[in-house]
This record gives sequence, C-alpha cells and structure tokens, in this order.
Amino acid sequence: MNQAVKAQTNDSFDAIKEAHTLSGDSEKIQEYYDKWAVAYDRDVSNEEYIGPEYIVNFLASLKSNNGLKAIDASNKNIEILDAGCGTGLVGIVLKAKGYHHVDGSDLSEGMVEKARSTGAYNVLESGIDLTKINKAYEDNQYDATVCCGVFTLGHVPPTALSELIRITKPGGWVVVSTRKSYYDSTNFQEVCDRYQQEGKVKLVNHVQDGPYIAEEGAHYWAFLVC
Ligand SMILES: C[S@@+](CC[C@H](N)C(=O)[O-])C[C@H]1O[C@@H](n2cnc3c(N)ncnc32)[C@H](O)[C@@H]1O
Repeated sequence: MNQAVKAQTNDSFDAIKEAHTLSGDSEKIQEYYDKWAVAYDRDVSNEEYIGPEYIVNFLASLKSNNGLKAIDASNKNIEILDAGCGTGLVGIVLKAKGYHHVDGSDLSEGMVEKARSTGAYNVLESGIDLTKINKAYEDNQYDATVCCGVFTLGHVPPTALSELIRITKPGGWVVVSTRKSYYDSTNFQEVCDRYQQEGKVKLVNHVQDGPYIAEEGAHYWAFLVC
C-alpha cells in the first residue's frame, strides 16, 4: 500500500472511531455527521463496510414462517423506512433490488442531502431523532423499518428500538444491525427480551456475528411487530 493510500485509510478508521465517542448526544451527532457527510462514503468503503448489502439481503429473505402472519418482505412493493439512512447506502441497495417505496430519515441534514442525491428515496426527513417520538411518522406507518449502523457505539441506546416498532405495522418488520462491541457493552439483549415479553415484537430471525466492517462483525435482528 503506498503512503498516501495508507494515510487515507488511517484517517477513515479514525473518523469512524471518533463517531463512536459522541456519547449519544443528538446535537454533537448532528454536527459531526453534517461535517463528515462529504467523506463518509469514502471512509466506510476504505473500512470495507458491507452492512447495507447484508441487511438488505437479510430483509428480503423475511416472510411468514411457523404459522406467523407476516408481511412478505421479498415483495418489492412494500413501504420501507430506512431509519438513520445517512448518505443513503441502504437505499441504494434497496433500489438496486427493485424496492421502490423507500423513505429515509436521519438526524443530520448533511447526510440526508447526500441521500437525496442517490434518487433511491421518496420522502426524506432530517432532524429525526430516533430516541424520541417523531410526529413526522404515524403509528403503524411502514411495512418494514430498516436501521443499519445506528445501533453502534456513541449513537442510540437500545430503547430507540421502541420508536422503530411504533412506526411499523403489526405483521411488519423491524430489522436492525448491532455492531458487536455495541451489543457487548449495552443492555440490548435485555431490551430485546423485555419487548418480547411485553408482546410488542417477536424475534423471528437473528444472525450472530455477521459481516459488517473490517474491524468487527455485527449481529442482525429481524423483529416481527405484534
Ligand atoms: C454510521 S451512520 C449509518 C448510516 C447508514 N444507515 C449506513 O448504513 O451507511 C449512523 C447514522 O445514524 C444517524 N444517527 C445517529 N444518532 C441518531 C439518532 N438519535 N436519530 C437518528 N439518526 C441518528 C447519524 O446521523 C448517521 O447518519
């Protein structure tokens, strides 16, 4: 690897690491991503980020099973929200697969501006904080809500799952990634167990340590909304 490429790769790694130090502070996150938006795609590509491809394939494989009534997520007409869409990497993969009712939301307008330029989304909203109830979205609005790279260090707490569940139809899907080190250092499992016990969701599919980014894998979760 030549020196210039090596320096750029180190910068990319550092930019990702810095994002992990944002302590879940919405203002700091918004500011950081507004600035990072211009270099985000290059940086995550340098670090071999393949979460978006993986999560879309995971979503597309979901259908009714074990007698559970569920929306067939391989149907390209379903209404999908890409929550925490960033620059639109998930939307690009969804579009390439033929999904054509895809909306996106994020905290950062800088990231959403990039997502807009992909042409993969219908409605895009910035200033949407997944740790709150967002009036922009109705209860039971989407057939599937996908959220990749957001349940990660310094970003959102595991309870942000509840907003994703609220805006997804009963019988619909909430599909998320959790970076391994995030899962290991938070109470994600406890929250997941609690929401199941409370009858909000059923965990139907789960991938342990799937492909995510060069540094480490992620777990992938498919919750059927009850
Ligand atoms: C690592 S990026 C992932 C973006 C995209 N989903 C992807 O896979 O490339 C994390 C994104 O989560 C967004 N984010 C962080 N905290 C958030 C919150 N509380 N509410 C909504 N979005 C948030 C950031 O603005 C950023 O765009």
